[in-house]
Amino acid sequence: MSKNLSELSGRKGLEDNLFDRMGKLAQNDGAPTIEDLDQLAEEFLIGKANTYGTTTFYDFLKPENKGKKAYVCNGTACVCAGTQEKVLEKLKSQYADNEIGHMTCLGRCHENYAFHIAGENYSGDAIDDLKNIVETKKAVSDNYTVKAYGKAILTAPFSSVQEYYKPFRKALKKDQVEVLEEIKTANIRGRGGAGFPMGLKLEFCRNVENETKFIICNADEGDPGAYSDRYLLEKQPHSVLFGMLIAGYVTKASYGVLYIRAEYPDAATIIQSAIDELNSVGLIGENIDDSGFNFNFKIIRAQGSYICGEETALINSIEGQRPEVRIRPPYPAEQGLFNKPTVVNNVETLAGLHYIIENGGNAWKKLGTERSSGTKLVCLDSFFKNPGIYEVEMGTSLATVINELGGGFKLPIKAMQIGGPLGGVVPLSKIDSLTIDFESFANGGFLLGHASIICIPEDFPMMNFIEHLFDFASYESCGKCFPCRLGTKRGHELAFKALNSDYKIDKELFYDLLTTLEQGSLCAHGGGIPLPVKNALTYFENELNPFFA
Ligand SMILES: Cc1cc2nc3c(=O)[nH]c(=O)nc-3n(C[C@H](O)[C@H](O)[C@H](O)COP(=O)(O)O)c2cc1C
Ligand code: SF4
Repeated sequence: MSKNLSELSGRKGLEDNLFDRMGKLAQNDGAPTIEDLDQLAEEFLIGKANTYGTTTFYDFLKPENKGKKAYVCNGTACVCAGTQEKVLEKLKSQYADNEIGHMTCLGRCHENYAFHIAGENYSGDAIDDLKNIVETKKAVSDNYTVKAYGKAILTAPFSSVQEYYKPFRKALKKDQVEVLEEIKTANIRGRGGAGFPMGLKLEFCRNVENETKFIICNADEGDPGAYSDRYLLEKQPHSVLFGMLIAGYVTKASYGVLYIRAEYPDAATIIQSAIDELNSVGLIGENIDDSGFNFNFKIIRAQGSYICGEETALINSIEGQRPEVRIRPPYPAEQGLFNKPTVVNNVETLAGLHYIIENGGNAWKKLGTERSSGTKLVCLDSFFKNPGIYEVEMGTSLATVINELGGGFKLPIKAMQIGGPLGGVVPLSKIDSLTIDFESFANGGFLLGHASIICIPEDFPMMNFIEHLFDFASYESCGKCFPCRLGTKRGHELAFKALNSDYKIDKELFYDLLTTLEQGSLCAHGGGIPLPVKNALTYFENELNPFFA
């Protein structure tokens, strides 16, 4: 059935996109009306249950969130810092309770303190200026440190469009396979979490015969603690567009879709300006530079759902279907958006291509470690003396990142969650044994993920942390498979009951639950949440023991 829906949604192409239309219908009131949805269903021939089922999934389309005017960030960094009570209290002085919602997360983890009003994000002390913000709707830009430790590639200053795209113009004169070989030689691995080699993914897609193919930039950076994709989209937009153009050229795809999360409103505006710039100098459109290569971009604004970062849920989302994870195979490279061959890559992975195309695959391969090549952006939260984004070579020691770059911790910290909600809980005792690369983290029993670091303060109870993780995981579960749909909910119920009564959790059953999640879940959402929970149980056994029978 969903395969047919993909075809039906694709009939109108990207220009008249079903999901886009749903978003636009929600712009005035916060949710489309039933009449609007009925009309859309008729126009796209997809049935009323589908338009209704889709819109009721998303935070910014669902009827119960209609009328929300202000949002508090409830991402892990803000929760651990305990800043959001104050934000909420202050917002209540200007808004009724039912006008205040939540967003996860606003990507202002360098301050662990954030809120959103009328399409603008604010962080930290801006809440003290709330009255003024409400009256003037003035945007406040936030500042954070961005530094390279060693070679600056992703954080290098931008020259000019003409200069920056010279390697692209040169690449267009080369055979596509030759360009692809450079990417394969670089052995650049996906930065979105799974670390899959980009060159192979491009090759799979290239090898599927189809006159319509898509390159999707996954700009749904939902991991609390991570704001490096936001940085690239807002401050280095051409690095992302360049990467998509090259990916399009080598796979023979003519369409690039940027799926940008609603929580990053500035990113979509900035990317659109960069696309307009490319248009004005003839670097997109038909027959670019007389090469026979055609490429056009489309921005799709997401509507508030963490699971849409998972690539197949993301594809369903663009199609206007309920964003449930798809069963693989077929993989997107074979059958993706509108059932066409599709490459989905993370923002940072795509941004790495400029250096590779300009300097050759070997130049990238020389950086980092044997299996994790190149550089990586690492995000530090405000518990560090120097919060910000740091570009480091893969293989850099975690101790260097924490102590030299981050300047150490401002307050007593007992652990860090590294790599998002599915990433491990790393106790301080493990700092000296880890380096920033996929292998080191996996061998140590953790996950590099997108390499964001959130600190867990000494006085933040670990059971509250577990409860928060399960709460997040159950709220964001797509619901397709029952181990995750029910298991994350049960995990949350157990942690909540243990925290709020004298109930003791049966440890054996709790481990059964974690194993069921790990082994029975369809995707890495349900399958990944046991990792941080197990780390917490291992390294904070004494603290957690009183909650278990
Ligand atoms: C629950 C979940 C959330 C994810 N969120 C993101 C995300 O926000 N951004 C992202 O690039 N990848 C995310 N991923 C990984 C994507 O499914 C996919 O592997 C990635 O976009 C591929 O790009 P890459 O190879 O460049 O990493 C997520 C995966 C899961 C299971
Ligand atoms: S593990 Fe969770 S998010 Fe993934 S498919 Fe199953 S229900 Fe959906």
